[in-house]
Amino acid sequence: MLFPDYRPRRIRQSEPFRRLVRETVVTADDLILPLFVIGGKDVKNSIDAMPGHFQFSIDHLTRTAKAAHEAGIPAVMLFGIPDKKDPLATAAYARDGIVQKAVRELKNRVPDLAVITDVCLCQYTDHGHCGVVEKGIVDNDASLDLLARTALSHANAGADMVAPSDMMDGRVAEIRNTLDEEGLESVPIMSYAVKYCSAFYGPFRQAAHSAPKFGDRRTYQMDPANGQEAIREATMDAEEGADILMVKPALPYLDIVYRIRQELDLPVAAYNVSGEYAMVKAAEEKGWIDGPRVMMETLTAIKRAGADMILTYFAMDAARALRDR
Ligand code: PBG
Repeated sequence: MLFPDYRPRRIRQSEPFRRLVRETVVTADDLILPLFVIGGKDVKNSIDAMPGHFQFSIDHLTRTAKAAHEAGIPAVMLFGIPDKKDPLATAAYARDGIVQKAVRELKNRVPDLAVITDVCLCQYTDHGHCGVVEKGIVDNDASLDLLARTALSHANAGADMVAPSDMMDGRVAEIRNTLDEEGLESVPIMSYAVKYCSAFYGPFRQAAHSAPKFGDRRTYQMDPANGQEAIREATMDAEEGADILMVKPALPYLDIVYRIRQELDLPVAAYNVSGEYAMVKAAEEKGWIDGPRVMMETLTAIKRAGADMILTYFAMDAARALRDR
Protein backbone atom coordinates (compact mmCIF):
# COMPACT_ATOMS: atom_id res chain seq x y z
CA MET A 1 0.00 0.00 0.00
CA LEU A 2 2.49 2.56 -1.13
CA PHE A 3 2.13 5.68 -3.22
CA PRO A 4 1.76 5.91 -6.17
CA ASP A 5 0.18 2.43 -6.41
CA TYR A 6 -2.13 3.17 -3.55
CA ARG A 7 -3.82 6.57 -3.43
CA PRO A 8 -6.09 6.98 -0.36
CA ARG A 9 -7.71 10.01 -1.98
CA ARG A 10 -9.35 7.85 -4.67
CA ILE A 11 -11.98 6.65 -2.29
CA ARG A 12 -12.64 10.12 -0.85
CA GLN A 13 -13.31 11.93 -4.08
CA SER A 14 -17.11 11.80 -4.13
CA GLU A 15 -19.94 11.73 -1.61
CA PRO A 16 -21.23 8.33 -2.82
CA PHE A 17 -17.77 6.81 -2.26
CA ARG A 18 -17.46 8.49 1.11
CA ARG A 19 -20.84 7.10 2.13
CA LEU A 20 -19.83 3.60 1.05
CA VAL A 21 -16.65 3.49 3.10
CA ARG A 22 -17.93 5.38 6.15
CA GLU A 23 -17.20 3.31 9.25
CA THR A 24 -19.22 5.09 11.89
CA VAL A 25 -22.74 6.41 11.51
CA VAL A 26 -24.56 8.12 14.37
CA THR A 27 -28.32 7.66 14.39
CA ALA A 28 -31.07 8.84 16.70
CA ASP A 29 -31.11 5.26 18.06
CA ASP A 30 -27.81 5.97 19.81
CA LEU A 31 -29.00 8.98 21.77
CA ILE A 32 -30.33 9.51 25.29
CA LEU A 33 -31.61 12.95 26.25
CA PRO A 34 -30.99 14.15 29.83
CA LEU A 35 -33.87 16.18 31.31
CA PHE A 36 -34.28 18.15 34.54
CA VAL A 37 -37.59 18.10 36.39
CA ILE A 38 -38.72 20.48 39.12
CA GLY A 39 -41.97 20.96 41.06
CA GLY A 40 -44.75 23.41 40.25
CA LYS A 41 -46.82 24.10 37.15
CA ASP A 42 -45.84 25.82 33.92
CA VAL A 43 -42.25 26.21 35.10
CA LYS A 44 -39.57 26.46 32.43
CA ASN A 45 -36.40 27.93 33.95
CA SER A 46 -33.61 28.35 31.47
CA ILE A 47 -30.17 27.11 32.51
CA ASP A 48 -27.54 29.77 31.84
CA ALA A 49 -24.61 27.65 30.80
CA MET A 50 -26.75 25.12 28.92
CA PRO A 51 -28.60 27.03 26.19
CA GLY A 52 -31.71 25.16 25.02
CA HIS A 53 -32.05 23.28 28.35
CA PHE A 54 -34.45 24.00 31.17
CA GLN A 55 -35.67 22.96 34.57
CA PHE A 56 -39.12 21.77 33.55
CA SER A 57 -42.20 21.24 35.65
CA ILE A 58 -43.91 17.95 34.80
CA ASP A 59 -46.29 19.49 32.22
CA HIS A 60 -43.41 20.92 30.16
CA LEU A 61 -41.33 17.82 30.75
CA THR A 62 -44.03 15.67 29.18
CA ARG A 63 -44.19 17.92 26.14
CA THR A 64 -40.44 17.81 25.62
CA ALA A 65 -40.36 14.05 26.14
CA LYS A 66 -43.03 13.67 23.49
CA ALA A 67 -41.01 15.79 21.08
CA ALA A 68 -37.94 13.66 21.80
CA HIS A 69 -39.91 10.50 21.08
CA GLU A 70 -41.19 12.00 17.84
CA ALA A 71 -37.64 12.91 16.84
CA GLY A 72 -36.74 9.22 17.15
CA ILE A 73 -34.88 9.31 20.47
CA PRO A 74 -35.36 6.00 22.33
CA ALA A 75 -34.80 7.19 25.91
CA VAL A 76 -34.47 10.08 28.33
CA MET A 77 -32.43 10.29 31.53
CA LEU A 78 -34.29 12.02 34.32
CA PHE A 79 -32.76 14.26 37.01
CA GLY A 80 -34.95 15.58 39.82
CA ILE A 81 -34.71 18.89 41.63
CA PRO A 82 -36.60 18.45 44.92
CA ASP A 83 -38.16 21.27 46.93
CA LYS A 84 -36.56 20.11 50.17
CA LYS A 85 -33.16 18.75 51.11
CA ASP A 86 -32.10 17.03 54.34
CA PRO A 87 -29.15 14.98 55.66
CA LEU A 88 -30.71 11.65 54.66
CA ALA A 89 -31.99 12.72 51.24
CA THR A 90 -35.52 11.60 52.11
CA ALA A 91 -36.97 13.33 49.03
CA ALA A 92 -34.91 10.98 46.85
CA TYR A 93 -36.94 7.91 47.82
CA ALA A 94 -40.28 9.49 48.72
CA ARG A 95 -43.20 7.87 46.96
CA ASP A 96 -44.36 11.30 45.85
CA GLY A 97 -40.90 12.64 45.10
CA ILE A 98 -40.41 14.73 42.00
CA VAL A 99 -38.80 11.94 39.95
CA GLN A 100 -41.37 9.37 41.03
CA LYS A 101 -44.24 11.69 40.00
CA ALA A 102 -42.54 12.59 36.72
CA VAL A 103 -41.92 8.93 35.84
CA ARG A 104 -45.57 8.01 36.39
CA GLU A 105 -46.70 10.90 34.21
CA LEU A 106 -44.18 10.16 31.44
CA LYS A 107 -45.06 6.46 31.34
CA ASN A 108 -48.70 7.47 31.11
CA ARG A 109 -48.29 10.06 28.40
CA VAL A 110 -45.38 8.78 26.32
CA PRO A 111 -45.37 5.03 27.04
CA ASP A 112 -43.03 4.08 24.19
CA LEU A 113 -40.24 6.37 25.33
CA ALA A 114 -37.89 4.63 27.77
CA VAL A 115 -37.41 6.49 31.02
CA ILE A 116 -34.07 6.03 32.74
CA THR A 117 -33.64 7.63 36.15
CA ASP A 118 -30.43 8.99 37.60
CA VAL A 119 -30.05 7.44 41.04
CA CYS A 120 -28.05 9.67 43.35
CA LEU A 121 -28.44 11.55 46.60
CA CYS A 122 -26.55 14.78 45.85
CA GLN A 123 -29.57 16.79 44.69
CA TYR A 124 -31.42 15.67 47.83
CA THR A 125 -28.88 16.01 50.64
CA ASP A 126 -28.48 19.39 52.34
CA HIS A 127 -24.67 19.03 52.14
CA GLY A 128 -24.75 18.14 48.45
CA HIS A 129 -22.71 14.94 48.64
CA CYS A 130 -23.75 11.75 46.86
CA GLY A 131 -24.00 9.73 50.05
CA VAL A 132 -24.61 9.98 53.79
CA VAL A 133 -22.10 12.14 55.66
CA GLU A 134 -20.83 10.99 59.06
CA LYS A 135 -18.32 13.24 60.87
CA GLY A 136 -17.47 15.07 57.66
CA ILE A 137 -16.85 11.87 55.70
CA VAL A 138 -19.07 10.31 53.04
CA ASP A 139 -19.96 6.96 54.59
CA ASN A 140 -19.99 4.31 51.88
CA ASP A 141 -21.92 1.49 53.52
CA ALA A 142 -24.48 3.73 55.19
CA SER A 143 -25.31 5.20 51.77
CA LEU A 144 -26.04 1.88 50.06
CA ASP A 145 -29.43 1.29 51.62
CA LEU A 146 -30.64 4.79 50.70
CA LEU A 147 -29.42 4.42 47.12
CA ALA A 148 -31.17 1.07 46.81
CA ARG A 149 -34.38 2.55 48.25
CA THR A 150 -34.15 5.37 45.72
CA ALA A 151 -33.68 2.97 42.81
CA LEU A 152 -36.53 0.80 44.07
CA SER A 153 -38.91 3.74 44.37
CA HIS A 154 -38.05 4.82 40.82
CA ALA A 155 -38.67 1.31 39.51
CA ASN A 156 -41.91 1.07 41.47
CA ALA A 157 -43.03 4.32 39.84
CA GLY A 158 -42.42 2.70 36.46
CA ALA A 159 -38.86 3.64 35.51
CA ASP A 160 -37.66 1.41 32.66
CA MET A 161 -34.04 1.48 33.84
CA VAL A 162 -32.12 2.90 36.81
CA ALA A 163 -28.73 4.56 36.59
CA PRO A 164 -26.73 4.93 39.82
CA SER A 165 -24.27 7.85 39.54
CA ASP A 166 -23.04 8.13 43.13
CA MET A 167 -19.82 6.03 42.86
CA MET A 168 -20.24 4.31 46.24
CA ASP A 169 -18.57 0.89 46.29
CA GLY A 170 -21.00 -2.01 46.09
CA ARG A 171 -24.08 -0.06 45.10
CA VAL A 172 -24.79 -2.02 41.93
CA ALA A 173 -25.05 -5.30 43.87
CA GLU A 174 -27.18 -3.63 46.55
CA ILE A 175 -29.57 -2.18 43.96
CA ARG A 176 -29.71 -5.44 41.98
CA ASN A 177 -30.56 -7.46 45.10
CA THR A 178 -33.19 -4.99 46.22
CA LEU A 179 -34.90 -4.88 42.83
CA ASP A 180 -34.80 -8.69 42.54
CA GLU A 181 -36.31 -9.18 46.01
CA GLU A 182 -39.20 -6.96 44.98
CA GLY A 183 -39.87 -8.85 41.76
CA LEU A 184 -38.26 -6.19 39.59
CA GLU A 185 -35.61 -8.50 38.14
CA SER A 186 -36.33 -7.27 34.62
CA VAL A 187 -35.42 -3.64 35.36
CA PRO A 188 -31.87 -3.12 34.03
CA ILE A 189 -29.11 -1.11 35.69
CA MET A 190 -27.03 1.34 33.71
CA SER A 191 -24.10 1.89 35.99
CA TYR A 192 -22.10 5.09 35.97
CA ALA A 193 -19.24 2.64 36.33
CA VAL A 194 -16.36 4.93 35.39
CA LYS A 195 -17.19 8.38 36.62
CA TYR A 196 -14.37 10.85 36.96
CA CYS A 197 -14.10 13.71 39.41
CA SER A 198 -14.41 16.23 36.61
CA ALA A 199 -14.62 20.00 36.32
CA PHE A 200 -16.79 19.42 33.26
CA TYR A 201 -19.84 18.94 35.52
CA GLY A 202 -19.97 22.65 36.42
CA PRO A 203 -23.06 23.66 34.45
CA PHE A 204 -24.97 20.57 35.61
CA ARG A 205 -24.46 21.42 39.27
CA GLN A 206 -26.05 24.82 38.66
CA ALA A 207 -28.91 23.17 36.80
CA ALA A 208 -29.53 20.48 39.42
CA HIS A 209 -28.51 22.46 42.53
CA SER A 210 -26.18 19.63 43.47
CA ALA A 211 -22.81 21.23 44.20
CA PRO A 212 -21.24 19.94 47.44
CA LYS A 213 -21.40 22.50 50.27
CA PHE A 214 -18.00 21.46 51.62
CA GLY A 215 -15.06 19.64 50.11
CA ASP A 216 -15.28 17.90 46.77
CA ARG A 217 -16.07 14.48 45.34
CA ARG A 218 -12.51 13.18 45.14
CA THR A 219 -13.04 10.47 47.76
CA TYR A 220 -15.62 8.72 45.60
CA GLN A 221 -15.31 9.88 41.98
CA MET A 222 -12.25 8.77 40.03
CA ASP A 223 -8.99 10.63 39.56
CA PRO A 224 -8.80 11.86 35.93
CA ALA A 225 -5.22 10.58 35.85
CA ASN A 226 -6.25 6.93 36.13
CA GLY A 227 -7.00 4.51 33.31
CA GLN A 228 -6.21 1.10 34.72
CA GLU A 229 -8.52 1.76 37.65
CA ALA A 230 -11.37 2.26 35.16
CA ILE A 231 -11.06 -1.38 34.16
CA ARG A 232 -11.32 -2.46 37.80
CA GLU A 233 -14.37 -0.26 38.41
CA ALA A 234 -16.13 -1.50 35.28
CA THR A 235 -15.28 -5.13 36.00
CA MET A 236 -16.69 -4.85 39.52
CA ASP A 237 -19.92 -3.31 38.31
CA ALA A 238 -20.28 -5.96 35.61
CA GLU A 239 -19.82 -8.68 38.22
CA GLU A 240 -22.30 -6.99 40.55
CA GLY A 241 -24.97 -7.13 37.85
CA ALA A 242 -24.76 -3.97 35.77
CA ASP A 243 -26.39 -4.31 32.33
CA ILE A 244 -24.78 -1.25 30.74
CA LEU A 245 -21.48 0.37 31.71
CA MET A 246 -21.12 4.11 31.43
CA VAL A 247 -18.01 6.24 31.08
CA LYS A 248 -18.30 9.87 32.07
CA PRO A 249 -17.35 12.48 30.86
CA ALA A 250 -16.94 11.43 27.21
CA LEU A 251 -14.59 13.53 25.08
CA PRO A 252 -11.62 13.83 27.45
CA TYR A 253 -11.94 10.08 28.20
CA LEU A 254 -12.30 8.46 24.78
CA ASP A 255 -9.31 6.25 25.54
CA ILE A 256 -11.31 4.86 28.46
CA VAL A 257 -14.41 4.33 26.31
CA TYR A 258 -12.21 2.42 23.88
CA ARG A 259 -10.61 0.28 26.58
CA ILE A 260 -13.90 -0.59 28.28
CA ARG A 261 -15.32 -1.56 24.88
CA GLN A 262 -12.32 -3.82 24.22
CA GLU A 263 -12.01 -5.40 27.65
CA LEU A 264 -15.61 -5.88 28.78
CA ASP A 265 -18.49 -7.54 27.09
CA LEU A 266 -21.40 -5.31 28.05
CA PRO A 267 -22.98 -2.41 26.16
CA VAL A 268 -21.07 0.82 26.77
CA ALA A 269 -22.61 4.24 27.26
CA ALA A 270 -20.70 7.52 27.21
CA TYR A 271 -21.96 10.69 28.89
CA ASN A 272 -21.17 13.82 26.89
CA VAL A 273 -21.56 16.04 29.95
CA SER A 274 -22.78 19.57 30.61
CA GLY A 275 -19.36 21.25 30.37
CA GLU A 276 -18.65 19.59 27.03
CA TYR A 277 -21.97 20.92 25.76
CA ALA A 278 -21.43 24.39 27.24
CA MET A 279 -18.03 24.80 25.56
CA VAL A 280 -19.45 24.08 22.12
CA LYS A 281 -22.43 26.37 22.67
CA ALA A 282 -20.26 29.22 23.95
CA ALA A 283 -17.79 29.03 21.07
CA GLU A 284 -20.66 28.80 18.61
CA GLU A 285 -22.29 31.88 20.12
CA LYS A 286 -19.06 33.77 19.66
CA GLY A 287 -18.95 32.69 16.03
CA TRP A 288 -15.70 30.84 16.62
CA ILE A 289 -16.84 27.39 15.51
CA ASP A 290 -19.55 25.84 13.37
CA GLY A 291 -21.76 24.46 16.16
CA PRO A 292 -23.81 21.89 14.24
CA ARG A 293 -20.71 20.40 12.61
CA VAL A 294 -18.81 20.27 15.88
CA MET A 295 -21.83 18.54 17.44
CA MET A 296 -21.93 15.78 14.80
CA GLU A 297 -18.16 15.39 14.85
CA THR A 298 -18.26 15.02 18.64
CA LEU A 299 -20.97 12.38 18.59
CA THR A 300 -19.28 10.49 15.76
CA ALA A 301 -15.98 10.47 17.65
CA ILE A 302 -17.63 9.12 20.80
CA LYS A 303 -19.30 6.35 18.82
CA ARG A 304 -16.10 5.60 16.89
CA ALA A 305 -14.28 5.14 20.22
CA GLY A 306 -16.71 2.35 21.06
CA ALA A 307 -19.81 3.81 22.74
CA ASP A 308 -23.01 1.97 21.90
CA MET A 309 -25.06 4.87 23.19
CA ILE A 310 -24.46 8.51 24.09
CA LEU A 311 -26.09 10.59 26.77
CA THR A 312 -26.00 14.10 25.41
CA TYR A 313 -27.64 17.49 25.72
CA PHE A 314 -27.32 17.57 21.91
CA ALA A 315 -29.73 14.64 21.54
CA MET A 316 -32.69 16.67 20.30
CA ASP A 317 -30.65 18.86 17.93
CA ALA A 318 -28.78 15.85 16.59
CA ALA A 319 -31.89 13.71 16.11
CA ARG A 320 -33.57 16.52 14.19
CA ALA A 321 -30.49 17.22 12.08
CA LEU A 322 -30.24 13.51 11.23
CA ARG A 323 -33.91 13.34 10.29
CA ASP A 324 -33.72 16.43 8.05
CA ARG A 325 -30.55 15.35 6.28
C1 PBG B 1 -24.99 13.38 40.12
C2 PBG B 1 -24.62 13.63 38.71
C3 PBG B 1 -23.75 14.60 38.17
C4 PBG B 1 -23.85 14.49 36.79
C5 PBG B 1 -24.72 13.45 36.51
N1 PBG B 1 -25.18 12.91 37.72
C6 PBG B 1 -22.96 15.65 38.83
C7 PBG B 1 -21.86 15.30 39.74
O1 PBG B 1 -21.45 14.15 39.90
O2 PBG B 1 -21.40 16.23 40.37
C8 PBG B 1 -23.15 15.37 35.78
C9 PBG B 1 -23.80 15.49 34.45
C10 PBG B 1 -23.32 16.59 33.60
O3 PBG B 1 -22.39 17.35 33.93
O4 PBG B 1 -23.90 16.74 32.52
N2 PBG B 1 -24.10 12.65 40.88
